[in-house]
Amino acid sequence: MSGIKTLGQFIIEKQADFSYAKGELSRLLRDIGIAAKIVNREVNKAGLVDILGDAGTVNIQGEGQKKLDIFANTQFISALTSGGECCIVATEEEDDFVPIDSPVSKNAKYIVCIDPLDGSSNIDVNVGVGTIFSILRRKSTEGIATIEDVLQKGTEQVAAGYIIYGSSTMLVYTTGKGVNGFTLDPSIGEFCLSHPDMKVPADGCIYSINEGNYVHFPEGVKKYIKYVQVHDATTNRPYTSRYIGSMVGDIHRNLIKGGIYIYPTTASSPNGKLRLLYECNPMAFILEQAGGVASDGFNRILDIQPIELHQRSSIFIGSEKMVRMAEEMMRKYTLKESDKLTNINGTELDPAV
Ligand code: AHG
Ligand code: MN
Ligand code: MN
Repeated sequence: MSGIKTLGQFIIEKQADFSYAKGELSRLLRDIGIAAKIVNREVNKAGLVDILGDAGTVNIQGEGQKKLDIFANTQFISALTSGGECCIVATEEEDDFVPIDSPVSKNAKYIVCIDPLDGSSNIDVNVGVGTIFSILRRKSTEGIATIEDVLQKGTEQVAAGYIIYGSSTMLVYTTGKGVNGFTLDPSIGEFCLSHPDMKVPADGCIYSINEGNYVHFPEGVKKYIKYVQVHDATTNRPYTSRYIGSMVGDIHRNLIKGGIYIYPTTASSPNGKLRLLYECNPMAFILEQAGGVASDGFNRILDIQPIELHQRSSIFIGSEKMVRMAEEMMRKYTLKESDKLTNINGTELDPAV
């Protein structure tokens, strides 16, 4: 075993960095790691057992649920419930947040926001899927934790991470002191440190966006896409387009190779598609910790004050230079929502007139 560091060993080693945590945060991360291994086992044998396909239910956001969405949701809630370190789980698959009101958990210090299975549309076709989680400290000091404890800005996260169930399974996380990646070694059933201190290249040449929605994109995004497709040897353009349709997979690749991932507002999703609490915030925390940038096109993702549980946001995330360039296009060609001029009926006015 010499030279191998397991996730459990690494977490305990780093525990000293958290004077306030007294082991609870470490235990919480360990619980998430265990649930991830169970989900991984099911994802790996999905074609052999009756776990592929639609569950025939719809979540509060109007999205059809897959059997694996529900399985992963149940596994994570159950691991976090029995661990006793978490008083609330907020998940993409539940209408409301889930209070854990066992005698131990109701006074627990932490709140977990989770996308149990990211990339649902890829489940049935053997393409990489993931899990995304964000850990917050409970703000209130007495009584039952409430929605106010959940609606915290991304800057308040104490840890965030993702698991990618791909050609190999990895868990990548940050506690605000850099980003570390662990690969699951199936022979010993442990996540082992494989990517210490991950850094995203400051610039890159991969862009990831669902270009099929082009006609519905804001003008700034259209201009950015045209910019990345121009031939210019000095800036390595045209860039390469890579889009899996699993945020975890797309961002993981760009974190390692350098690149930008964009899910902008569109005509059908005027506030963006991805969820602030369980997709945008944790990914933004990880990417910033790796030296990258995460923006909604105008503002830092982590500075957005959430006002509702399933709130959505647009996101531009990845290598610093690429995100800054996309933001420049947004500022130049897409008016900030708040600056838009509307008439008394709420119809948008042309500012040039
Ligand atoms: P989820 O499976 O958790 O609902 O998330 C799907 C998200 C994200 O993973 C992905 O990048 C994006 O939706 C893909 O959306 P489009 O199919 O609209 O491109
Ligand atoms: Mn998702
Ligand atoms: Mn999901």
